[in-house]
Amino acid sequence: MAGFVIAIDGPAASGKGTIAAGLGLRYGFPVLDTGLLYRAVGVTVQRGGGDPADAATAEAVARRLDPSQLEDPAFRTREAGEAASLAAAHPGVRTALRQFQQRFAQREPGAVIDGRDIGTVIAPDAPAKLFVTASPEVRAERRFKQLRGQGEQVTYDDILADIRRRDERDSARAASPLVQAADAALLDTTQMSISQAADAARRIVEEARARWEASRQG
Ligand code: DC
Repeated sequence: MAGFVIAIDGPAASGKGTIAAGLGLRYGFPVLDTGLLYRAVGVTVQRGGGDPADAATAEAVARRLDPSQLEDPAFRTREAGEAASLAAAHPGVRTALRQFQQRFAQREPGAVIDGRDIGTVIAPDAPAKLFVTASPEVRAERRFKQLRGQGEQVTYDDILADIRRRDERDSARAASPLVQAADAALLDTTQMSISQAADAARRIVEEARARWEASRQG
């Protein structure tokens, strides 16, 4: 019997990472940001002189990836996000990373996992599923501030173009595209502050938790 899995999906800079971290703290669950796995693959391919768009190279790196080594700040850059999006489109890369994610989802008493295909592919039976989104402009604004805070020299227009390109690539790919699971609650954070979004997510998850507990008793 798996624990209480909270699956959070959504496009880049939708606020899902912040929401995931808040829910992890609230429930005392470990949190897995699966974007970091794909970022690690993309960056490692590039460090070896390869191209993340090349399926064989990216797959070989994904098979050898050590998922305990995700703390590298280089994985959080704009370039890493782009490399990740390219690497993530290869079915072989996704397969190589699947087992680690599914084991994480089996943790007791529960786990929070965020990404693009958590509610659809990695943990389709998760009792709590959220699809977090916001307009491209608002997401670009958030990512722009974050990257500037990290000292990256970027413009808002560049980031908006990145976001649109990645939305298109992540949604249009054949392998596990970004799509809202039929049973996921939609949370549009366009008009929300971070704390409002976190509150709204908490309410959705509390309801799911009450249903989950009732079903276990019955
Ligand atoms: O969430 P993020 O920006 O760190 O994700 C980086 C890229 O990795 C994103 O463009 C798509 C890909 N990704 C994915 O395909 N599946 C996931 N579960 C997480 C990320």
